[in-house]
Amino acid sequence: KSVVVGIDVGGTNTVFGIVDKDGNFYGEGSIPTQAYPTFNDWAQSIHDAIMQTLKERDGEIELTGIGIGAPNGNYYTGHIENAVNLSWSGNVDVVGKMKELFGNDKTAVLTNDANAAAVGEMVYGGAKGMKDFIVITLGTGLGSGVVVNGQMVHGYDGNAGELGHVIIEKGGRKCGCGRNGCLEAYASATGIKRTVFELLANENIPSTLRAFTYNDLTSEMIYKEAVAGDKLALMAFEETGKKLGQALADFTAFSTPEAFFLFGGLAKAGSLILEPTKRYMEENICIIYKNKIKVLLSELNDKNAAVLGAAALAWSELS
Ligand code: BGC
Ligand code: NA
Ligand code: ZN
Repeated sequence: KSVVVGIDVGGTNTVFGIVDKDGNFYGEGSIPTQAYPTFNDWAQSIHDAIMQTLKERDGEIELTGIGIGAPNGNYYTGHIENAVNLSWSGNVDVVGKMKELFGNDKTAVLTNDANAAAVGEMVYGGAKGMKDFIVITLGTGLGSGVVVNGQMVHGYDGNAGELGHVIIEKGGRKCGCGRNGCLEAYASATGIKRTVFELLANENIPSTLRAFTYNDLTSEMIYKEAVAGDKLALMAFEETGKKLGQALADFTAFSTPEAFFLFGGLAKAGSLILEPTKRYMEENICIIYKNKIKVLLSELNDKNAAVLGAAALAWSELS
């Protein structure tokens, strides 16, 4: 049976899944991205982990392609270019390296991680049948996959759809890209942490989150405390949804999506992030668009839209 591997490179973990043409899984695994300071070490390690997983189904499946979604991954060049949330700086040839490691007879394709998630949503998730939609990924950074008239928007050089690096607050928080006030510095798993620590410093509210250091705290913990009723954690979600909702209201003017899908770590908080995002979007949206644009949770928040989308992309190159 022919299979491909879909790889989702995240700032924290790199996840992969061995997938057939119908999206059935034949094995999965992950490696900690941050444990590999160089691209070559990371590539060798992900290759070895995939080969190990394939070996467990030896004789039964055959790898024909590799699809990768990565932050700042460029579909046109096959390179990751100037990733702001990875430890590899500059420009790395991902497609070339995969062919070197897995063999030249294999198809290898790279795209932006959020674009991969959008392909996954379109093929297997809630965007089935939609022609215009935007997937927003809320992980270490904020990514976006913009689909217009049924087509992924790559832009003239392959880097379109970087909505995380739109400035929403002049002179605001420092972003990994070097500028100040980018959306991802507020609305992402990292952004909500920064909001929590700002609130902890400024407000006189008791919170169980005071027990954490910045490095120990994760967005899942903020979510758990919010569910348990922690006032500060709830304020952090409200504030994050406000920033995101206001931004989505503005993004609507560009391509007018039928829906925005929220995917990734922070989207697992469900209505805690969805509700304020929707409310602030509606409150801020131009009258032309009022009550027309949906904000939805990804239908693939547990299945990994980016892995499935990267795999689907490899399949489409093969056919
Ligand atoms: C990068 C995007 C990526 C997003 C999510 C941003 O910082 O610029 O390319 O999609 O993070 O990983
Ligand atoms: Na994108
Ligand atoms: Zn930025």
